[in-house]
Amino acid sequence: MNPADTPLIDVAAARAILEANDRDGHTVPTDGLYPFQWSWDSAITALGWQTFDEDRAWREAEIMFAGQWDNGMLPHILFHGNAESYFPGPDVWGSGTRIPSSAISQPAIWATTLRMMLDRASDRELAESRLGPLVPKLVDYHRWWYRERDPEGTGLIVSYHPWESGMDNSPAWDKPLAAVPEVDWSYERRDLGHVDSDQRPHKPEYDRYLYLVDFYKRHGFDSQVIYDECPYRVIDVALVALLHRASMDLIELCRQFGVSDGLEDIEAAVNRTRTAIGSLWSEEHACFLSQDTKTNTALDVITTATILPLFADLATDEQARRMHDLIGEWLDASTVGLASTHPASPLFEAKRYWRGPIWLHINWMLALGAAATGRPDLSERLRDDARRCVNEAGFFEYFDPVAVAGCGGDRFSWTAAVALYWLATPCRRPSDTSSDSSRLIDDSQR
Ligand code: DGY
Repeated sequence: MNPADTPLIDVAAARAILEANDRDGHTVPTDGLYPFQWSWDSAITALGWQTFDEDRAWREAEIMFAGQWDNGMLPHILFHGNAESYFPGPDVWGSGTRIPSSAISQPAIWATTLRMMLDRASDRELAESRLGPLVPKLVDYHRWWYRERDPEGTGLIVSYHPWESGMDNSPAWDKPLAAVPEVDWSYERRDLGHVDSDQRPHKPEYDRYLYLVDFYKRHGFDSQVIYDECPYRVIDVALVALLHRASMDLIELCRQFGVSDGLEDIEAAVNRTRTAIGSLWSEEHACFLSQDTKTNTALDVITTATILPLFADLATDEQARRMHDLIGEWLDASTVGLASTHPASPLFEAKRYWRGPIWLHINWMLALGAAATGRPDLSERLRDDARRCVNEAGFFEYFDPVAVAGCGGDRFSWTAAVALYWLATPCRRPSDTSSDSSRLIDDSQR
């Protein structure tokens, strides 16, 4: 076989994972540990489906948006079917929606991934017919974020739960979460039946996660009361950046599909964020820091969230240059990168959920951000490391960046999806003899 034809990852195995995790049109992140539809998992997974079944990819999005709340919110979990195997299930959330769901959202990446799917579609007619009806729903979703989570129009949305960040157990949340009371009722965690406890959050954190879930329910999901009184209220730089990037993508989708209702709100919000993001920049840390708005303090832990503004075109040239340098030495600090928490941090833990392991979908976004800001070499390094994780450890939920070992759930949908759309193809060079890395052409980066 010609070396150029050698598969860079096991494509058949990755497809088989998506097929095995398919549940009548939506994909569970992994069997057992996460038995329902999670919003940002689903958005990433749809891109993977698109590489071999375009109809199925659009279906993933349609099922997710069928669970959108009347106020525009897209819940972070849709509980399709019997929820007894998962905790906390719909009874604990108490949202009482038609499709049972959680009562918080997750990083707003849908407009970004759906726009990519449109650009990559081989069946353009199918893509337009399936995406068209979703565009007004995306507008409602983004308006919900800006209206409900930035009621004062600061340009920086807030989050009420670490789960909303998708980076649940990040050490950046330790201080604001410590201010949240613990629940005084007992419960049985189901996650520990699937994954070693040294790879999952500790009980005091779980007690606080549940206090917050209960808090929204006790206050009847009243936005104003939650904004004023929720004991956890954080400007999460990743949520801000990913929403901003998605809004830029959504504005383009609105133009293409002729949707004007609500567009002005999104455009105004994007301008506010562009003005406000600089207030999160830390000269000392060379990255953007999340903020606890209950105490007005910066959350000074270097995690992958702090550099995601690179993916959202939110950094000045000088800020981007400093973040490139940071990424370079961060990559050098572990066997493979990019660790979700900088290994030099005293809070770094190589195996524990969001406290150090590598997540491939985040590294993909950072690779796109590095390439877009003039560093295709960093982008390629991130991709080579991601390939190494999959090829040496398998399609795990996350990876120990020191031991290059798989952690969390196995046969994980978003890892398989990222492998299919990002890792399966090599970069092409404009000419075989070129050694200029800035001229690498990466089909998956469009
Ligand atoms: C979990 O159950 O750990 C999830 O991350 C919550 O979204």
